[in-house]
Amino acid sequence: MQYREFGKDKRKDNVNGKDKDKVKVSVLGFGCMRLPTDNGKMDGVVDEKESARMIRHAIDAGINYVDTAKVYLSGQSEAILGRILQDGYREKVMIATKLPVWDVKSRKDADRIFDEQRHDLKTEKIDVYLLHNLKRSYWKTCLDCQLIDWALEKKEKGEIDYVGFSFHDDYDFFVEVVNSSEHWDFCQLQYNYTGETVQAGARGLRYAFEKGLSIIIMEPLLGGVLAKPAGKMGELFQSEKGKNFQPVDLAFRWLWDQPEPTVVLSGMSSFEQVTQNLQIANQGFAGTLQPEEKAFILELQKAYNQSMPIKCTKCRYCMPCPSGVDIPLNFEIYNNHTVTLETDKNSMLGKIFYATMLESQQAVNCVRCGSCEESCPQKLPIQEYLAEIDRTLKS
Ligand SMILES: NC(=O)c1ccc[n+]([C@@H]2O[C@H](COP(=O)([O-])OP(=O)(O)OC[C@H]3O[C@@H](n4cnc5c(N)ncnc54)[C@H](OP(=O)(O)O)[C@@H]3O)[C@@H](O)[C@H]2O)c1
Repeated sequence: MQYREFGKDKRKDNVNGKDKDKVKVSVLGFGCMRLPTDNGKMDGVVDEKESARMIRHAIDAGINYVDTAKVYLSGQSEAILGRILQDGYREKVMIATKLPVWDVKSRKDADRIFDEQRHDLKTEKIDVYLLHNLKRSYWKTCLDCQLIDWALEKKEKGEIDYVGFSFHDDYDFFVEVVNSSEHWDFCQLQYNYTGETVQAGARGLRYAFEKGLSIIIMEPLLGGVLAKPAGKMGELFQSEKGKNFQPVDLAFRWLWDQPEPTVVLSGMSSFEQVTQNLQIANQGFAGTLQPEEKAFILELQKAYNQSMPIKCTKCRYCMPCPSGVDIPLNFEIYNNHTVTLETDKNSMLGKIFYATMLESQQAVNCVRCGSCEESCPQKLPIQEYLAEIDRTLKS
């Protein structure tokens, strides 16, 4: 197992007034959102015995970072993890969990949820605590309830070691969130080789790194899509050249090749996946991807982009929309939804993303004024697309 340093860089820890020692965390973290279940889906009953075998094996092999959340696996994840980490395993890992900001109306709610989490996880201290799923629609709650200060107070009391956030919105908003506090220790981003311009993207990754935040990566395999590449990407792996490459190996090593990610979280749903990913993590060095591997990834990125039904280049010339619709964001969610369905026809992720974006930004608010189409350099039929997106993604 390879390790990288975790903790805020380049400045003093202003909360307790002294330098905080950096800790070494495994480059592969265990994401507890996709443990094995009786129906193979995230709403099934978790197979706790198999999950224990997987998680304890991963820890025995050197993983020291586990990520969970109150809402994962229909609320089962934290309590199951708490039980699995008994018998001496708790002391071997950093536990990361998250405040479901959308369920918080006051600091009292946050206190109650935090105490429930400590109870379920059987721990007094939560090592790594995140404001979960920050996006514009939840930001007002964070500000109104002063949730960053709330978390920092817990840190001062020793109930949390590191404070950060997970993020699912665009780059501009990401910069706003990073700059909203000098006390963030880290952030958690969706990032993989198809996602350099998605959400915070590569620009966000580098921005946070420059600011000294540690970076945790989520969805490194695009929720499994990159492990079973379909369509044009699948054809590339079937080609003579593609047979030299292994999809999961390439996706992880593309991330670790970069210096910015500290931990790459993997949601593993079988023991075989755990053993395979542990093996790949032994090669989690920066700057080691070979030129032919980089060239093949460029081809995969091109193939992925060709599979996108809406050829939006995110130039944002269509913005601002007079009705407040975030046109590029709706396109991004719809494109990812369409590509994801190629490998998982039951995926609900697109619908979830659409339902949880700021209501005023949703495609449904398009009043067909047409000003966006006048300014789109790609001449996209934006109004038609927005209508189709709302029809497809509304719950
Ligand atoms: N904070 C947030 O807002 C947020 C959002 C998303 C995720 N997360 C965290 O980040 C973690 C990682 O994200 P993710 O679970 O989406 O990761 P991911 O790596 O993109 O997707 C995980 C899926 O990839 C497949 N997979 C993993 N290893 C494999 C292997 N060796 N061979 C074949 N398939 C493999 C499995 O799919 P199958 O199960 O289909 O086999 C697995 O369920 C989550 O578990 C969670 O802890 C946080």
